[in-house]
Parts: sequence; C-alpha cells; structure tokens
Amino acid sequence: MSGSTIIPWVVGNWKMNPMQANSQQLIQDLKQQLQQQPISEQQCHIGVAPIAIALLSVQQQFADAPNKIMSVAQDLSRMAGTGAYTGEISAELLKDSGIEFVLIGHSERREIFGDTVSVVQEKVKNALNANLKIIYCVGESLAQREAGQAEEVVLQQICDIAALVKAEQWNNIIVAYEPIWAIGTGKTASPDDAQAMHAKIREGLSQITPLGAKIAILYGGSVKPENAAELAACADINGALVGGASLNAESFYQIAQAFAKSKE
Ligand code: PGA
Repeated sequence: MSGSTIIPWVVGNWKMNPMQANSQQLIQDLKQQLQQQPISEQQCHIGVAPIAIALLSVQQQFADAPNKIMSVAQDLSRMAGTGAYTGEISAELLKDSGIEFVLIGHSERREIFGDTVSVVQEKVKNALNANLKIIYCVGESLAQREAGQAEEVVLQQICDIAALVKAEQWNNIIVAYEPIWAIGTGKTASPDDAQAMHAKIREGLSQITPLGAKIAILYGGSVKPENAAELAACADINGALVGGASLNAESFYQIAQAFAKSKE
C-alpha cells in the first residue's frame, strides 16, 4: 500500500539554533524564496520548529509569507494543564498560544534528555488531549541496524503509542522515520533502505488504523538538496524532517521544492 497521494510535509527542525539575528535573516530569505517561486499548499506543507522562546515571534514573522508556514514546538511537558512545574510548557499552553504542532520522541530527546517510552507516551497523550498535531519521531541506532533489529525497533516505537491514539486522532499524527546514525552525520539512508522502512511503517500503521494509508511518513537524517529528489521519489516517503539544512533558507527551500515537484 502506498502513501503517494499524501501532500508532502517539509519541516525544519532548528534544534538549539540560531541566534535571533540569524533567525530573522533566515525567515526573510525563506519568504523571499517563496515569493520568487511559490510552492502551493496543495504541493507541499512547510513548517519550522524553532526554540520554544521564539515560537510566537517566528509565527508572527511568517504571517505575511506567501505560504502558511506552520510553527512547530520541538517538545512539550509530560505534565498537562497548568501548575507548579518550573521550566515546563504544557500541551494546553502551546495550544493557548496558537501553536498547532509538536515534535515528540526525537532521538535527541530520548538519548540526551531521558525521554523514556513512558515519558514519550505521556507527552503523546497530553498533546492529543489538547488537540495538537504530533510529529512522532522513530528510528533505530547504528548498533540496532547492524544487529538486524531496525524494523523491530521502529515498529515497537509505533506500537508504543498505538493504544493511546483514538481512532479519529490518527488524523493528528505524522510519523518521522529518522535513523539515529543518519542524524547530523551527513550519512543518509539510501532511498531503497528508507523506502523499505517507510513501507514497513505504513504496513504497521495500516494494521492499527484504517487511516494508515493516509498518514504522512517523513524521512529525517541528513536530508539536503542533493538527496531530496531521490528520497521524494519514493512512494512512502511523504516529506522530510530537516535539521542542519533547514538553517539555510536556500537549502531548505530546495528540499521543499523537491518534494513539491515529486508529487505533481
Ligand atoms: P539532520 O537532523 O538533518 O541535521 O540530520 C534531522 C533531525 O534530527 O530532525
């Protein structure tokens, strides 16, 4: 089963970058690119995930962009609502500020900040309860791939959240497959390997929900203009989660363009 009729998503994960001046320049340059050569929303959805403190200002700066550019939170609290939780931002507070999307389960959160499966599950639950849309990240380590466990690990990560998502809430889920060994390393999964994993993920999702064929599955891990077109050409790769290359307006635009064109 292929997801090739899905409108692609290209989302820039800015991580703990950039300084304000660079962020303003990046936004301006991206708006200019989109003005010169528009990408319609029917061709490709575009989003960026800035640092939490910049979410609203980035959203404002994109308000007059030729396209709707979604502001995506990079994380949210495992605590819901409001309360005495110093340093935390809940799903409800994101929603209250007009943020509609959130990344959950990024490998950097899992590996560096101790987001265990149960923390990831709490975050997913909170995001769904607050009606946020989730970009749910999955992916195996190099050791897991070399041990032949890649599929098992990734499908388990999908299963980790399956019971939490109510039937109609699958409309609010986007999956991002990001092999950990490909993140920030310059190494990309080959289009064949990526497509094979995406097809497995789609098969798994389709066993869980009738919406499985409609869920966008993004690829992430050293996506750049040079490899975007061949990744975009794969039937079950419905977009990209872009780290490093999203900090350069031209590169990010070219990646979005590659996905927009591939689905024409
Ligand atoms: P990268 O990061 O494009 O720099 O590899 C991707 C990600 O972590 O989302």
